[in-house]
Amino acid sequence: MVKPILKWAGGKRQLLDELYSRFPESYSHYHEPFFGGGALFFDIEPDNGTINDTNTRLINFYKQARDHPDELINLLQSFDDPESDPDSNRRFSDTNRKGKEIKNYYYQQRELFNNRPHGDEYDELEEAALLLYLNRTCYNGLYRENSSGGFNVPIGRYSNPDWVREDEIRKASRVLEDTDIRNTGFEYITEVAEEGDLVYFDPPYKPMSSTAYFTDYSAEGFGKEDQEHLRDVAQELNENGVNVILSNSGVMYEIYDEAGFHVEVEGATRSINSDGDNRDEVDEIIATNITPEERQRAGQQGLADF
Ligand SMILES: C[S@@+](CC[C@H](N)C(=O)[O-])C[C@H]1O[C@@H](n2cnc3c(N)ncnc32)[C@H](O)[C@@H]1O
Repeated sequence: MVKPILKWAGGKRQLLDELYSRFPESYSHYHEPFFGGGALFFDIEPDNGTINDTNTRLINFYKQARDHPDELINLLQSFDDPESDPDSNRRFSDTNRKGKEIKNYYYQQRELFNNRPHGDEYDELEEAALLLYLNRTCYNGLYRENSSGGFNVPIGRYSNPDWVREDEIRKASRVLEDTDIRNTGFEYITEVAEEGDLVYFDPPYKPMSSTAYFTDYSAEGFGKEDQEHLRDVAQELNENGVNVILSNSGVMYEIYDEAGFHVEVEGATRSINSDGDNRDEVDEIIATNITPEERQRAGQQGLADF
């Protein structure tokens, strides 16, 4: 059981028990097409399979962690405390893109990340190190992009920020060793998932109100059509004998119920009416094509312990 390296919006650590209790008795390969922080993947530590996310920088990070853990750790160790003075020997040290003076090392790192040099200057390892550094030192520790794709989170307040994460990087590198890491839309899964495999979908949730922040994962949102397409993909996998588990917003209850999945409501604030009219207000659902009879004993054991 490995902890995720990055803190990511929508991380599923609190839902792990609920997800495990739907697992089939056995499965072949494990796939996670909306990877983010990969809380379930790192907890399972699968031997093989695929992970995927549309966020290019996130995927670059996992590839670097898998393929170059020592170099990544060394580079992170060379970074300074976020509140220290900017490094006068480095590019972008005086002002940011808007011409504002950069006052400390954190904003210098953020600027470097956002200016993302391309071509010969582009350095995948540095890009990965900057992502982890910012994730560990920014406010609330969450990755967020503005509409033009810039990372715009201000500096956080940490008495002793730890951005090197040597242990976690080494463990992740080991777990990812035989994993196929992809950077594309979730649909790739129909090409790779085979009968008997297990797929966990954790898409960006559909906004439950106009002020909800579910589309903040990246500059691109995940709208109604994407959600319907995902349902179609889940159905196709089901027809091919693939085990599917999906977490989603409560507002998606009906479309999975109607598609024949087993759907249950999860989340701390259950406000579903007994007649089911008020489903929009519930937090989360878990939908799966794995029947209660096919589920592994681990879930029942958990219940006995309880
Ligand atoms: C809810 S988060 C996943 C959180 C993850 N389960 C965890 O534990 O941290 C959803 C992820 O889907 C990614 N994403 C958005 N649209 C996508 C698409 N069309 N295909 C694949 N990934 C997508 C986002 O970049 C984000 O990282």
